[in-house]
Amino acid sequence: MNQCAGPAVLNGGGTLSAAPVGEVIPLRTATGKAAPSLRLELRAATQDVHDRLHHHAGFAAVQDATIGLADYQDLIARLYGFYVPFEAAMAIEPERSTWLACDLAALGHKRPLHAVPICRHVPCLNSTYLRLGALYVAEGSALGGRELARGLDPLLGKDVTQGRQFFIGRGAITGESWRSYLAQVSAASPEPSAHAEIVRGATRTFAAFENWLNGWSTSPHV
Ligand code: HEM
Repeated sequence: MNQCAGPAVLNGGGTLSAAPVGEVIPLRTATGKAAPSLRLELRAATQDVHDRLHHHAGFAAVQDATIGLADYQDLIARLYGFYVPFEAAMAIEPERSTWLACDLAALGHKRPLHAVPICRHVPCLNSTYLRLGALYVAEGSALGGRELARGLDPLLGKDVTQGRQFFIGRGAITGESWRSYLAQVSAASPEPSAHAEIVRGATRTFAAFENWLNGWSTSPHV
């Protein structure tokens, strides 16, 4: 199968599970709506880092449609270096790292994949709730990703998908994937300790991501 053929959809229609096969998250409701308090807790706990990422030189340049090829390659390579160990820590099939590898190939990135620096400080995600919180970061980032994908038109050409699979993500079913994620959050135990662990998974992952992305560029940025 050509892994670079287009945005991949895993686990049957975009439903991602934070729990390894066979592990069950305790159910509370099956409404499909996220428990408002936990959703708000996640958002509040990560608002500052999310806002800071809007001003990250690489993401901001993508959003402003001003990024050049060398910087874009640096950004995609850095994201690849995060998502490879992140997906391993999550015990999920490679998805975003595969899109990023395809993007690097399409962009003519010179460095072989095995020589791309890999983040060594992805948090230990050794519980279902930590993984559920970590997934908030990955799934949520896809929401802004659609907007960022449009900012690549001047660099890649309108309607060209090659080179921006990561930002396109699951494309038209991004919203469905997000709702599916929120349903998992909604189904989590209402115990405060469970909520705390989920939020911890999200904040630790955001922190590791931000820290890693700070070293994104091979050229100086002020
Ligand atoms: C310039 C960069 C970014 C922009 C413009 C952006 C934009 C957005 C937008 C517009 C939404 C709301 C979408 C909606 O409600 O339909 C959103 C949500 C979110 N984004 Fe970003 N984003 C950026 C970077 C990131 C990054 C790098 C991450 C994480 C690695 C991230 C994580 C999230 C999360 C977790 C949410 C969900 C918040 C919630 O509603 O609970 N974003 N972003």
